Order: sequence, then structure tokens, then C-alpha cells
Amino acid sequence: MGETLPLEIERLLVVDDEVPILHALQRTFEAAGFAVTACSDPHEALETLSKQAFNVISVDYSMPGMTGAEFLSRAKQIQPDSVRILITAANDFSAAVDAVNKGEIFRILAKPWNRSELLSCVRQAFDTFALKLRNRQLAQLVHKQNSELAELNRGLERQVQERTSNLLDGMVAVLDYRDTETQWHSRRVSRFTCRIAHELGVTDPRELRTIEMGSLLHDIGKIGVRDAVLLKPGPLNPEEWVEMREHPRLGWALLQRIEFLRDASQIVLQHQERFDGGGYPAKLSGEQIVLGARLFAVADTYDAITSDRPYRKAQPHEAAVAEIRRVAGTQLDPNVVEAFCRLPESEWIAIRGEVEQISLLEAQWGWTPPSRVFDAFREAAIKQRAEKKIPSSPAAPTAHDSGAPQG
Ligand SMILES: [Fe+2]
Repeated sequence: MGETLPLEIERLLVVDDEVPILHALQRTFEAAGFAVTACSDPHEALETLSKQAFNVISVDYSMPGMTGAEFLSRAKQIQPDSVRILITAANDFSAAVDAVNKGEIFRILAKPWNRSELLSCVRQAFDTFALKLRNRQLAQLVHKQNSELAELNRGLERQVQERTSNLLDGMVAVLDYRDTETQWHSRRVSRFTCRIAHELGVTDPRELRTIEMGSLLHDIGKIGVRDAVLLKPGPLNPEEWVEMREHPRLGWALLQRIEFLRDASQIVLQHQERFDGGGYPAKLSGEQIVLGARLFAVADTYDAITSDRPYRKAQPHEAAVAEIRRVAGTQLDPNVVEAFCRLPESEWIAIRGEVEQISLLEAQWGWTPPSRVFDAFREAAIKQRAEKKIPSSPAAPTAHDSGAPQG
């Protein structure tokens, strides 16, 4: 029975095996303005119910072959939304009450009925039906509006993420204007770090995002280092090293002003610490160093060894793995090193390839493509990888920070 009943039509089905009573009820209800269908056979009435929708059903309790309670129970299965009324003689009342208690019936009316009581009962039944229907429509409307609101929130979330990424791109680019090539080193290291984090079992998107942002901005404090020190072609003297070693603290202080970067600022502050306590600025060791900074240190070391430097060519993957294993437990966290060693070279080639594609695009366009372009390249690289069309790793641009000695 798929018919939907509009509220303005008040359709009533009346069932009574005693035809004179049936007609009396029909006349009463029609006089009150209801659209009445009268049936003296309950089986025929069930047939009618399967073809036409009714707001209210009124039935006599005592009928041959089927009680009114049984009839209403089956009527409920055919038209669950209908409001059902049982009319019964006093001697059948207790059996009828049982049917009401099972939740099948809206109201029981005693025979002989009082006309105004009967009409008032049917009026209430129609009002109940209308109320149920309006409640359902309202619930559907609320559900629809909630869905629209959720979609709107998702859109806003996407916008916030995009603007955040653009802001971070801008911050890294500011540093890049002074300390060329840092951007692509930062991009690679940020991706490398997240990949190792994932291998180590970090799956919380918020934590991964913090690790990504902290790694990307690790050297942002170099904005506060003077050109005479930052861009000095020769070795730094002890005083200059003191100034250079301020950059983790400067970066941390800068990010304190931006609420969503406060967690990432810990990675920036600790990115030059060593696992054995020999780093700076606070000489933290072991798990005193936040996980993101320990992860970063491995990715940074790998990128430094496998990238070209002014004083030496890029080393092969195997050489980087051997060096990273050698310094596990001193410079680097051995657990992180273990996770790093589980990843095949193809992973690093793919990440390097993604970043290089973006750098080529930037050279063509003259500006940094938005993060969604970067993501599109990542997806393309993943697809390429799946199709085994990855070329061998070309040499990457030089990165300032990762050359020896560390900045
Ligand atoms: Fe640094």
C-alpha cells in the first residue's frame, strides 16, 4: 500500500457486520464532514485497506470469523500510520482492553455510543493522525537541514584547510626567499616524516597533521637569523653558531602566536635535539623529545644524505640506510630507525618525484601551486607507482639546513 495520504483529506473506514449499525455510523460521520467508506465484511475491508489509504479506521469488536481486535492488528500491518478505534459492547470490554494494551488501538468506545462522544473521539483520531504526519515531516525537514548543515561544515572545513595550507606555503616561501631551496627540502622532509610516522602506527589525522606542519616549518626560525650568518659562504665562528642555534627557539616563539600551530611548534623547538641528549637547544634525550621531532630527525638525515650538496653529490639509498642505522641510539631514535628501515626505496623515490613535479610547475608558473595541485600530483604519483612506471630518482635541489655541520 504505497499511497500517501494528504492531510486535507480526512478518510475514514468503518467496519461493522450489522448493516443497520454500519449505515447509522456512516450517516453520522458523513454528516460531520468525513469521507467515509463502509464495509460489513472484515475480509473485504482488509482488501480495501490494501488498495486505499485511510487516516482513521473504526471497527466493531464482535464480528463473525474475526474479532475487531484481530482486524485492527492486521490493519496496522497494512497501514501502520492509521489511527484505529474499536467499538465494543460492555461484555467484550476486558478482551478489547487487552488489544489496546498491545498498542494496536487508539481508543475503545462503548456500545451503544453517545453521538457527541463518538464524533469527538473520531475528531481526536484525525488530529492524532495529522500530528503524527506533521511530526514526521518535521523530522524529515530537520534531517534534511542537518545534512545540509553537515555539508556546509565540510565545505568550510575544506576552505579552512586550504587557507591553512596556503598560509604555511607562504611562511615556507618567505624563508625560501632568503635561504634558497629550503622549501623543497622542507616539503620532502615533511612528507618523509609523515610516511615514517604512519609506518610507526601513527594514524590519528590530527597528530599526523601536526607532524606534517612541524616538519614543514622546522627551520622557520631562520627568518630571525641575520643574513651575515645565515648566508655566510664559509664556516661559522663560535659567536655565529650561537646565533644560528637560536633558530629552533625563534621558530617556536613565532608559532606561539598562531593557535593551530602550537602543537607543531614543539617539533620546531626540538628538531635539532639528539636522541642521546647531545643536541640543542635544551639537550633533551630519548622520549623527552616529542615523537614528531624524533621522526623528523630520521627523515631529515635521509634527505640530507640522498640530496646533492655544494660539497658532495647525493649518496645512494643504501648508503643513507647504513648511516642511519649507524647513528641509531645516538643521534636518532632506534624505534623510528627500525620503522624507517622497513620502507622500500620506491616510497622515497615517489615522494621525491611528487615534490620535484611541483617545483618544476612553480618554476614555470612563477608561484607556488596551491596544496590541492600538490595533492593531485601525489595521487598521480600513487597511480604511477601502482602501474610501476616510476623513473629512477633524479638528483634533488640542494637543501641548506641538512649539510654538515647542522644549522
Ligand atoms: Fe634546523
